[in-house]
Amino acid sequence: MSNYHIKQLEEYFQVYRKSVNNPESFWEEIAEEHFVWRKKWDQVLEWDFSKPEVKWFKNAKLNITENCLDRHLPTRGDKTALLFEPNNPKEEAQHISYRKLHEKVCQMANVLKDHGIKKGDRVCIYLPMIPELAFAVLACARIGAVHSVVFAGFSATALSTRINDCDCKMVITADGSYRGAKTLNLKSIVDVALEDCPEVKSVLVAQRTGEKIDMVEGRDHWLKPLLDKAYSDCTAEVMDAEDPLFILYTSGSTGKPKGMVHTCAGYMVYTAYTFKNIFQYREEDVYWCTADIGWITGHSYIVYGPLANGATTVMFEGVPSYPDYGRFWEVVQKHKVNQFYTAPTAIRALAKEQLEHVEKYDLSSLKVLGTVGEPINEEAWHWYNNNIGKKKSPIVDTWWQTETGGIMISPIPYVTPTTPTYATLPFIGIQPALMDEKSNEIQGNQVEGRLCIKFPWPSMARTIWGNHERYRDTYFAAYENKYFTGDGALRDAVGYYRITGRVDDVIIVSGHNLGTAPIEDSINEHPAVAESAIVGFPHDIKGNALYGFVILKEVGQSRDRDNLRKEINQQITEQIGPIAKLDKIQFVPGLPKTRSGKIMRRILRKIAGKDAKNLGDISTLLNPEVVKEIKDNAL
Ligand code: WT7
Repeated sequence: MSNYHIKQLEEYFQVYRKSVNNPESFWEEIAEEHFVWRKKWDQVLEWDFSKPEVKWFKNAKLNITENCLDRHLPTRGDKTALLFEPNNPKEEAQHISYRKLHEKVCQMANVLKDHGIKKGDRVCIYLPMIPELAFAVLACARIGAVHSVVFAGFSATALSTRINDCDCKMVITADGSYRGAKTLNLKSIVDVALEDCPEVKSVLVAQRTGEKIDMVEGRDHWLKPLLDKAYSDCTAEVMDAEDPLFILYTSGSTGKPKGMVHTCAGYMVYTAYTFKNIFQYREEDVYWCTADIGWITGHSYIVYGPLANGATTVMFEGVPSYPDYGRFWEVVQKHKVNQFYTAPTAIRALAKEQLEHVEKYDLSSLKVLGTVGEPINEEAWHWYNNNIGKKKSPIVDTWWQTETGGIMISPIPYVTPTTPTYATLPFIGIQPALMDEKSNEIQGNQVEGRLCIKFPWPSMARTIWGNHERYRDTYFAAYENKYFTGDGALRDAVGYYRITGRVDDVIIVSGHNLGTAPIEDSINEHPAVAESAIVGFPHDIKGNALYGFVILKEVGQSRDRDNLRKEINQQITEQIGPIAKLDKIQFVPGLPKTRSGKIMRRILRKIAGKDAKNLGDISTLLNPEVVKEIKDNAL
């Protein structure tokens, strides 16, 4: 039996039992046998969810890049580590070997050091999906700087908020980025953001699109000449197991984004272990995750998890629709991809197009298909299974979160029998619980409740940067001694889990986690707007789209409604990013409120979802009359 690579269902149950009955000795064995340490731990786990405080591999010393790079050099030096597939299919793919990647990361690390970046400093990375993004992430980890990657689709305001929240000293960016047929000038966005970020002392600029940009004397530096003359060796900083590795922002149901802090050792062990099993990765395989490294999926399953296993990981710059809707499958054929991991929203978008975009290509290399980011609907699941997997490749529906660092509930392919729309069984070491309204754990099967995790796992986020209290309040206050996920789930007759969706004010649009509060704040700043409320409604491709109910001020009443809609979306685009734009905006005279003044989103959700026949008892509302008015004019 192998604890590290599970190949049979009985093995899964056996290893799972071991991981739950004796977590410390279980994880100790995994950590000992599969990673390199500068110093071993004194204690495997110390935890207290009431504080909350979690420490894995206490006092161990390591550097994650030695595990992702150096240790592979003797055996895999010439193996492709990073396979870069550019936006334009006519541009050649780059096969970056483990040796080359090690060299590039060391050079980048030396450039960071030359610019005064030390262990513990925060570095903001705002780059498109080009190899420099992976170099930058790993270079930070090499010298112990904490990376904060901000997805390069975020606006200047969103960027400056994130830079300031964790006091980044440096920003690494590019002149521009390619997204299908479009070019985006990233540097100009950084320039605007930095007007509000006085602490940023240097900006490194990778060249990608070659467009004209402004360089601020003394602050901005082209990356390439610096890299070219940097030493290609750089000693890895010795990190404590619990030193922060990175910060990654995720939206919450209230206020500003939460900077989730992940630490070195536990994150490494868990992402590597899940990657190996959930994708059944074997030495010669080519693995492709289509996410952007700006999200946790890219951190854990493009960069760290695959590289810690010595895998070949594809990094794709483009979009599924360029130059046509066959692009994903063209890339699968070209690189003989074995494991393919994408989001339900991409599957739905592709399923709408002609099947010939799929049929043109040889997809016989595929062995495992994955999905992540939101519940996958049955139709999309079957389209993926029939047309991409040809009913031969198991689909792993992987449930997890930015906060969990790694995959939590998922089938193991060729091991766990799959069921459409079910994430199936908890991964090794994960102890889920479903909670009822009275905060009791629901026992048994065929039940539904709120999903919690009742025991620590190695890759869980340890805090919210600069706000431990918010971390406790958000995740550990709702249920005693448990981590609350914010999701609802059901457990069926055989114990399989199905995630039913968010139970809080977070809406998942095209797989992106959006909090209602920051969007409402942005709308309310418009001079014509008095108040607003955002809800999600079902959308064919995006899963959910946003519906805004907006009350205008006196001054807004006479304005052209369509212009106002444009202005509101423009404002959201500038302050948050285009992903947060509203599909529908209804101007309303009031919002349904409880007597304590809380907006009844449940009612708005039903109206937006065209499901307003039975709204339940609304007589206790402060203003029941407004409901009919909103319903009659719904869009
Ligand atoms: C939320 C976390 C984890 C990487 C991408 C999203 C939803 C995620 C699934 C799935 C149903 C899912 C949950 C979760 N979610 N995967 N397989 N089935 N829902 O990370 O932005 O932190 O969002 O995404 O609602 O809480 P994130």
